[in-house]
Amino acid sequence: MAMFKRIQELIYTSNLDEVNLECIDLYKNINELSRQAFYDKDEAARLAVHRILYVINLAHLAISWELPAKNLMHPFISSIKYLLEKHWQQSEQSKYDHILSDIPAVENFPAWVKQKVAEHASNELHPLFTFLRDAATFEQMREFFFQETPLEMLFGDILAFMLPGVYGSIKVEFLKNYWDEVGHAEDHRVHRNLRAKLMNTVQIPINCYVQNIELLICEELELINMYLSLATNRPKQSELVGVMLATELMIPNRFQYSIKGWQRVGLKEDDLDYLIEHTSVDQAHSEDWLNQVVMPILINNPAAMSEVVLGIFRRLSIAMSVLDRLYNKIQTTETACIGKFKRK
Ligand SMILES: [Fe+2]
Ligand SMILES: [Fe+2]
Repeated sequence: MAMFKRIQELIYTSNLDEVNLECIDLYKNINELSRQAFYDKDEAARLAVHRILYVINLAHLAISWELPAKNLMHPFISSIKYLLEKHWQQSEQSKYDHILSDIPAVENFPAWVKQKVAEHASNELHPLFTFLRDAATFEQMREFFFQETPLEMLFGDILAFMLPGVYGSIKVEFLKNYWDEVGHAEDHRVHRNLRAKLMNTVQIPINCYVQNIELLICEELELINMYLSLATNRPKQSELVGVMLATELMIPNRFQYSIKGWQRVGLKEDDLDYLIEHTSVDQAHSEDWLNQVVMPILINNPAAMSEVVLGIFRRLSIAMSVLDRLYNKIQTTETACIGKFKRK
């Protein structure tokens, strides 16, 4: 059995106090795997540890009256999450040292960050976007859309993790953003539901991001784990604020390409509500997140800037690796969706 499936069982079903010996072995194996993944840069190990971290992170969203994650807070599960996140963070940090040694003064931050995001290769200039707009087949569009499912379906939940304990104007901005995310409390306008509608149209199961983890590319798991690991680790909130800023700054432009691509392969405007909605609301979100969240934090706590900047650049860099991998994958290999989710 794949290790992430065993961890999943241990979270939801086992009496962990009775499987102590197995836990000791598993912990040793995961520790070794994590070293191979993050220090030896072993691809297979990286995929394996991100699957494990993802099932633990997902359990933080488990619904107690349906399938309670009863061992989520057991020290065994917590220590795996702690271990993987620690190794991951240590291996990442040095990549961003050159940026962190060159951060601007607080008053120059808005212009600096917009320029950095605009010129980053993960923005709309990536060739994947023009490929989606001009050339991708229906199945290639579908594979791309499938792979982006975890973050898009969980985005509102990640935002919700940020709400407690923060008050005043920052809370107000979190809530405005969240209010849009939940369709101003109209269920059919909730972004997650708009996305589900498009998934139905192209015949991808709504729960694929939970049921078909083995089909997700490593880079997308890394992306969603970055968000969920920061969201479930309170001292990392400043970094998550930076991740969210980069997200809002990027989305409006890139969705335009997917919209044109889907229309080219026959989808109607009505099917594309989810994507169209984001081309307008996110423009305002990015400005407001910058001015109402990030700047008040930085003005009052300039020392938080390095965390915020780290979040921004981790987001840009991981998003870039997702695009690179998908650009290659959807053109060269049979798409996962074709085999798994057959269209009628
Ligand atoms: Fe949204
Ligand atoms: Fe947004």
